[in-house]
Amino acid sequence: MWKQSSKGRAMYQPAITGTGVFVPPEVITNEELVESYNWHADWFNAEHAAEIAAGKVEAKEHSSAEFIFKASGILQRHVLTRDGLMDPERMYPHFRQRSDDEPCLMAEMALKAAAEALAKAGVAATEIDLVICAASNMERAYPAVSIEIQKLLGAKGFAFDMMVGCSSATVAVQAASDMIRNGSVRKALIVSPEITTGHIEWRDRDCHFIFGDACTAVVLERAEAAQGPLFLIRSCRCATEFSNNIRNNNGFLRRNRPDGMADRRDMQFVQEGRRVFKEVVPLVSAHILGHLHDEGLEAAALSRLWLHQANKAMNDMIGRRVLGRDPRPGETPNLLQEYANTSSAGAILAFDMSSDGMEPGDLGLICSYGAGYSVGSVLLERA
Ligand code: COA
Repeated sequence: MWKQSSKGRAMYQPAITGTGVFVPPEVITNEELVESYNWHADWFNAEHAAEIAAGKVEAKEHSSAEFIFKASGILQRHVLTRDGLMDPERMYPHFRQRSDDEPCLMAEMALKAAAEALAKAGVAATEIDLVICAASNMERAYPAVSIEIQKLLGAKGFAFDMMVGCSSATVAVQAASDMIRNGSVRKALIVSPEITTGHIEWRDRDCHFIFGDACTAVVLERAEAAQGPLFLIRSCRCATEFSNNIRNNNGFLRRNRPDGMADRRDMQFVQEGRRVFKEVVPLVSAHILGHLHDEGLEAAALSRLWLHQANKAMNDMIGRRVLGRDPRPGETPNLLQEYANTSSAGAILAFDMSSDGMEPGDLGLICSYGAGYSVGSVLLERA
């Protein structure tokens, strides 16, 4: 299934031939989360009673499980460990120190999701010639986590890390599918190990409920090489627009700045949630409609819309704006109740878990959105 480009070079049809998911087994329900947060708030208020009374420090208010579900649609989240983050005097996870000779935590998660994706695709790890580790945060600066994964898998070719907030996985799909289309890569693996529990601020009730941990993996190859069922990648569209409304200031210049090493709020995930909601819904809806328009398609042609999993009300609104009516059950799959926001893994998780029942020729669209702002959409056809 290849054709000549206008310059006479072969062009290949890229396809997704396998996906895999790793979700850690430990769970924290809203009720448990709120109980530990409220202990923390009471402990904090007692510790800082004098400063609070003097108006120098703001007292912490209690969180509420009802608010969390109503505002986000989240009921629970899976986490790599509850150890540490449920301790009211600590409130962040405890991961054991690993030696440099051991797989790093992101690589370990990635291998689990990759094994499932490769098995579904019927592809041996040694056939992979591109590995992209696409995630909203990286465990270290270098060597690239993706190169470690490449080595652990015994994959060939090359590997690189990619950070585009919650759109990391879809931007990586565009990059990998373009390389497959033009023939520079034959089989690609994209992994998105999201350790969101490591960079959320558990001591802030505005956001402590948002995230969960997960990793997804996607195998892409030439459609003609596929061993089993596949989704043709009809086209991808990525867009970015700078915004400070989702930000994390942690980085390699941290210790060089005044108070850089202090326990600063801006070194974890910070967002203006309400502004994100208001600005991103129209941005993403217009992005999807523009992508479909350029493909000569109406929204009615889509049988599935796999959206980023950030907020149920947001996805319901995007679904309504794109489809021009209320989405039918299952049309815009919602996984927030069980997994919360798993950052760039979310939209792939929705695709992996809710693509059954699609017939050859059926179209679906994966769309992620998040920090940057960034938006990435991938138009797929069941083959
Ligand atoms: N428990 C109880 N009350 C809480 C609370 C909690 N955990 N967190 C905040 N509140 C309070 C606020 O202080 C505020 O009180 P006020 O009205 O007295 O000021 C009130 O509840 C409403 O807070 P607000 O932050 O405006 O709620 P919201 O309805 O906007 O919902 C989000 C918050 C974060 C769920 C929602 O804005 C959202 O999902 N935004 C998009 C986020 C997004 O997509 N981010 C991308 C990340 S990748």
